[in-house]
Amino acid sequence: MDDKIVLTGIKPTGMPHIGNYLGAFKPSIDLSQNHKTFMFIADLHALNAVHDAKVVKQHSYEAAAFMIAMGVNLENTALFRQSDVNEIYQLTEFLMNVTPKGLMNRAHSYKAMVEKNTEAGIDIDSGVNMGLYTYPILMAADILLYNSDLVPVGKDQKQHVEFARDIAGYFNNIYGETFKMPEPVIGEDCGIIPGLDGRKMSKSYDNTIPLLCPSNELKKKIMRIITDSKTPEEPKNPDESTIFQIYKLFANNDEVAALRKRFLDGGLGYGTAKTILFEKIDSVLSAPRKEYERLMANPAEIDKILEHGAEQAKRVAAKTITKIKKKMLGI
Ligand code: TRP
Repeated sequence: MDDKIVLTGIKPTGMPHIGNYLGAFKPSIDLSQNHKTFMFIADLHALNAVHDAKVVKQHSYEAAAFMIAMGVNLENTALFRQSDVNEIYQLTEFLMNVTPKGLMNRAHSYKAMVEKNTEAGIDIDSGVNMGLYTYPILMAADILLYNSDLVPVGKDQKQHVEFARDIAGYFNNIYGETFKMPEPVIGEDCGIIPGLDGRKMSKSYDNTIPLLCPSNELKKKIMRIITDSKTPEEPKNPDESTIFQIYKLFANNDEVAALRKRFLDGGLGYGTAKTILFEKIDSVLSAPRKEYERLMANPAEIDKILEHGAEQAKRVAAKTITKIKKKMLGI
């Protein structure tokens, strides 16, 4: 255990798929094994897009149950709801005042909206609420509130961690050395993970494999993987096969080598290969799936964990706010 503080936020948007998991969640679960970790369900970050409280609440439970089931180390980790720590609203407001508007104009997700609107010939800010526009400031507040050193995130979030560093720098320049510089930790590059249709796995293509779905649903998904029309007898190139690419993410080296050989030798039909893939994923994920289902049936247990996490988080957050108030308001 070194003394670096790890922090990450999980946006509650429904069951993560394999790509999300490997890119962002697994690195934080791994770091939680030997670091003091703050991990929260970023329910406030969901609000710019989700305007249905029931959905936010349900997805928040799912996200928490998911992280627990996948093995986050709760002895080292304060797992909590972002919205339960009032200091987050305070720090966000304070940071607003040192953050240049131009920085927000450069945020990838805002720029993507502007580009889409421009192409459509409508007002550039159409459909952009202030939650979306100031999203990176809330995220900087998340990171800076808990004195984080390491911030495991998916590649798509790297810019936001860089913005947190920028904002910490603006603050420090004005008010003197206050915030540490957090560092993004990007999960090892597993390459592009193919989805069921062979394109990159992404919710927007509807080609994902949700990580902890029921067994029969998993089977149905895997049977939907698109293949070419080679006969069972023909040798096949494993490196061009979605089935094999996904298998590699779950199987050990010996198993991978064995399946590679069967692809190359011929005599393995795609139907059989899919069954092998299904059985592998199903067995690797069966224990976490059971734990996930058990937790989802016992929300009170999740609440207890989140409340305990929030208490720990609040202690650290309150100290940060005291410090910032002194620096900014003199009180
Ligand atoms: N924005 C992140 C995402 O969409 C979630 C998040 C919110 C986060 N606050 C954070 C991640 C702070 C890391 C640190 O996935």
